[in-house]
Formats: sequence, C-alpha cells, structure tokens
Amino acid sequence: MADGGATGEGTLKRTLGAWSLVGLGIGAIIGAGLFVRTAAAIAERAGPSVTLAFLVAGLGCAFAGLCYAEFASMIPIAGSAYTYSYATMGELVAWIIGWDLVLEYAVGAATVSIAWTEYFNEVLSYVGLHVPYQWSHSPFEVMAGTGVHGIMNVPAVAILFVLSAVLVRGTQESAFVNNIIVVTKVAIVLMVITIGWGFINPANHTPYIPDPTLYTTPLGVTHQYGGIMGILGAAGVVFFAFIGFDAVSTAAQEAKNPKRDMPIGILGSLVVCTVLYVLFSHVLSGVATVEDFRTVGREASVSFAITTYMPGYAWLSKFVTIAILAGFSSVILVMLLGQSRVFYSMSRDGLVPKVFSQVHPKFQTPWKSNMLFFVFTAAFAAFVPGDVVGEMTSIGTLFAFILVCAGVWIMRVRRPDLVRGFTVPALPVVAVLGIVVCGAMIYGLGWTNWLRLGAWLAAGLILYFVYGHKHSRLRAEGSNS
Ligand code: ALA
Repeated sequence: MADGGATGEGTLKRTLGAWSLVGLGIGAIIGAGLFVRTAAAIAERAGPSVTLAFLVAGLGCAFAGLCYAEFASMIPIAGSAYTYSYATMGELVAWIIGWDLVLEYAVGAATVSIAWTEYFNEVLSYVGLHVPYQWSHSPFEVMAGTGVHGIMNVPAVAILFVLSAVLVRGTQESAFVNNIIVVTKVAIVLMVITIGWGFINPANHTPYIPDPTLYTTPLGVTHQYGGIMGILGAAGVVFFAFIGFDAVSTAAQEAKNPKRDMPIGILGSLVVCTVLYVLFSHVLSGVATVEDFRTVGREASVSFAITTYMPGYAWLSKFVTIAILAGFSSVILVMLLGQSRVFYSMSRDGLVPKVFSQVHPKFQTPWKSNMLFFVFTAAFAAFVPGDVVGEMTSIGTLFAFILVCAGVWIMRVRRPDLVRGFTVPALPVVAVLGIVVCGAMIYGLGWTNWLRLGAWLAAGLILYFVYGHKHSRLRAEGSNS
C-alpha cells in the first residue's frame, strides 16, 4: 500500500488549507490550454464551436472530478490517481496509471514550457530582441515560407530548469508565489473577456459550428474540421486547459484537513475555470479569424488577437503577455510538483527506484526526483512540437480519468464500509458518464494520438515487468510472510 511517508526517508510538511488548494488548483489549471491550445483547437478542429468543446471537456472533468474527490477524501495521501488505483485495483493497474500520469504531469509541463517560449519571444520583442526561430522550436517545425527549421527549444529548457530548482527549495514557498500568480491570471482572463467582448465580429462566429471538412496540420496530420467530430477533437485538445485540478489531490499529504479540503479544492477550481473558459474562447474566436490562427496568429495567439484587432489596447496586450508568462510558470511548477509526488509514492511502493523518494534533509523535498524529471521534461520540451506533446498530455490524462471513474465505482462495490469524507452522488451514473465523455474525447483526438498512447503504455508494461514487478514492496512483504 502506498503510505504517507512517515518513516525512513522523511516526511512532507502539512501546510496547505482549503483556499490554498483552490489556489493550487487554479494555478495549475489556467495556462497553456487556454492561452495557446484554444487557438489550435479553433484553427484545426472546431472554429467558434470551440466553446462547445470547452463545455464537453468541462463536463467530462466534472464527472471525473467528483470521482477524484471521493477518492481523495477516502485515501488522503500523496500520489493522485496512482495511489487511488493502487488501493483499489491492484499493483498492475496502479502501475499503468502511474506511468500514464507521466504523460499528464511531466509531458504536460513540457507542453506548457513550449507555450512559455512563444510568449517569452513576444516579451523580448518589446525591447527589440528575440530568440531565433532555430533556437525556440523543435527540429520538426519549419517557419512558414522560409524553410528555416527549428533545432532546439532553448527557452523552454531554461524555464524548466529554474522551476525545478524552485521545487527543490520547497512547496510552501512555491504555493505562496503561486497564489499571487493565480490572482493575476484570473484578472487577465476577466479583462480579455470584458474588453474583448466589444470587439467580437459576428462574421467570425458564422457559422458557429463549421461544416465538416478535412484539415491537414502543419505536421502533416489530416483530420476532420467542423461538425461533431470537430467539436470532440477540439474538446480533446482544450481538455488540456482543465488538466491540473486533479493535481490538487496529489498534494493531499500536505493538506491540513484533507477530508474537507480536497473536494473543495478540486471542484471549486473546476467550476471557476469552466465558466471563464467558455466566455474567453467565445471572445477569442470572435475577435480574430480561423485563418489568423492557422497562420500569423498561430503563436502567442492572445497577444496577436489583441494587437491586431483591438486598436488602442496595446497596453492590454503587453500586460496579458507578461502575466501569461508568469501564469505559465505557476502551471509548470504545479505539474512538476505533481509528477515528483506520484513517483514519490511509486518509489515507496518499490515500483520505481528509491532515488525518487529520497527526501532532502533540509528542504524535505524529493530533490533528486525533481532533477531527474527536469532532464526528462527538458528532452521533450527541446525536441518535440507543442501540438504533439499537448495532445499526448490530453489523451494520457483522459485515459487516467477513465480508470479513476472505474476505480471509484469498483471501490464502492467492493468496500462500501470504508469511511468517505465525500461521496459521489448517483454513483454508477456519474462514473459511467465520466467514462463515456472522456472516451468520446479520446475518440475525437484521432488515430495518431491513439497510437502514441498505445506505444507509451506498451513501454510502461515492459518496464514494469523488467523492474517494478521484481522490486515491488507488495512482493517483498508477500515473500517475507
Ligand atoms: N491546465 C493547464 C494548462 O492549461 C495544464 O496549462
């Protein structure tokens, strides 16, 4: 059983209250999904009907979030979906989900760091500087019309390094900085919605749901644009914007009163964000055109839309850009934190090497894990395009959510006796709806993403049988008794 870390390698500090957790949630939630992936979803999948995609994604998260909340209130220890599945569905399923969560947290952090680069270059342009295309893009990307290839995304690696170092210093400090950033992020989203509303061009919203056609992305993948499949695909893409509310549950070990605070933290942050997202994406798709987001407005899309279509608001564009940069940093921080916590639990269960649970004697953080995951995330950030890592993150997380929905249901049937601080209403229905909606988004993401998820899970299974199965604590305890 994954335990709370009360022995041996040291313990984590309990410092977070309910509002810190909502803050942690919103800090993790509003980020690249909204400020970068929304434009990609408009351009490549759904046009203005991206708002419906946000509703679908929010709905899927609400069902899964309720299931998460029950789990979190029942098993208030570190590890997120991994820990819950370990307790309910056994070691192999727990391994699959823990491995899958690397897509959510580590690859997700890489995605946001790539988005960070886009806005970083925008900020540099204010003082007449920029990181050359080659050093701010992956080798798989080509600058339109020039043939210039990317080589490596250097700013993304740099921000990952800085934030990994912050995490080594400790959670408390990070949560404090995070709270300031959360307020700023919500403020800019509200400003864009209220000011941008007056600049919506109704022509950009007509037709609201585009007729189905085929669209080929700059990376050469062809899929449907418009229609129902467009909305489902877009929902899979913008689902990224919701990722993180479950990261709250990974901090359970650091919560003062996990039973009460976890459900508030998870569901509270989810509701706030859904409302903001629908309004924000309605404004963004109304201000600029689909063609913009396919071409010149592809990068740093929010700054582009404001600068191009909202005359007199250059100050807003600058403020938003700088705030987005800070906001992305808080998202990366929480994702890296979530990642190290998941591997902390897995390591204590013997499924990954001990190095992932060794705690720093002074800072009480899993510092070696933080550094190892810096190397891992940096490799993705440096060399893989944002679209690819973004969709990998989405599909991996959707898969994890499906397992969580199934898990909470199984647990109710098998162990109705366990005390739960929070119980999901109408349980089989909510769990089934969670599975169906998240499954529909996986379907919408298309075969390239199914293949990547399949390959990732296959690699994980090989690792499990080569390492985890042999070193697991369960097995060691079994053979001692
Ligand atoms: N939800 C987070 C974001 O959109 C991961 O950046």
